[in-house]
Amino acid sequence: MADKKKILAGRKAVDAYRRDHADLERYAGGWYKGMSDDHTPLLDIMKAGLRKQGFESIQEFFNANREYCARVVDPAKVWVNREDLSLLTTIDREGIKIDVGGNHASLYIDGISEMDTRKIDHASMFESVQECPNNARALVGGLGLGLILLYLASFERTKEVVVVEVNKRLVNILTEPFATWFASEYPEFKFTIITGDVGEEVVKLGKFDWIFLDTNSPWKSHFIPYLNNGGNIIDLNPYPLEWK
Ligand SMILES: C[S@@+](CC[C@H](N)C(=O)[O-])C[C@H]1O[C@@H](n2cnc3c(N)ncnc32)[C@H](O)[C@@H]1O
Repeated sequence: MADKKKILAGRKAVDAYRRDHADLERYAGGWYKGMSDDHTPLLDIMKAGLRKQGFESIQEFFNANREYCARVVDPAKVWVNREDLSLLTTIDREGIKIDVGGNHASLYIDGISEMDTRKIDHASMFESVQECPNNARALVGGLGLGLILLYLASFERTKEVVVVEVNKRLVNILTEPFATWFASEYPEFKFTIITGDVGEEVVKLGKFDWIFLDTNSPWKSHFIPYLNNGGNIIDLNPYPLEWK
């Protein structure tokens, strides 16, 4: 069982790899022939970093990271029961499929699995909101099933939350039920959902104290200009989700 220090150091190695990889693409103006050869040394540096922490492979690190996330969650503070998903119902239309069963829900967009609300996903959201300053203006990239909204509402640290979701059909389907459910369960919780690419929309929205990205793109640096002093950016990739 890996300890927190090793996990955090492992995450740093992965973050550094992702940053360097993004730089490689940026400086080259996108993908180019032979890029994978240039990327190999970056990968080797990351693997060496992980080995230093006792992880023999990337997969071993991800497994340990997942195990760690599931372990640190305080079950008393986490929604693992069906009632907390009462805002979600099974839906299958316009290519948006939400499957609610047992004590979790799954979201598929055009047949592709986008997310789930299993314990590990709760762990991600739980850990992330710990970094939200009090009285924060918050930006959420990617609505998904709104799990992060449950955590933000319950933590009562935000004065305003702006969610940007790129999929218009998902926004159309979930906006009204979410507005009704949160108004009844968390009347003080203020949030809006807008349609768009969070990378594009952020430039029009002013500054935030907490920026949470769960969009499957490693692009934290793009958001730094829109962060207030003392604020935090959480980019959920690549952990605790699987390597994309
Ligand atoms: C993993 S889900 C987000 C889960 C969410 N954090 C939750 O708590 O339920 C990813 C979501 O991000 C959306 N998405 C992907 N790329 C995006 C982008 N560039 N801008 C905004 N939303 C995006 C997807 O359509 C999907 O709904």
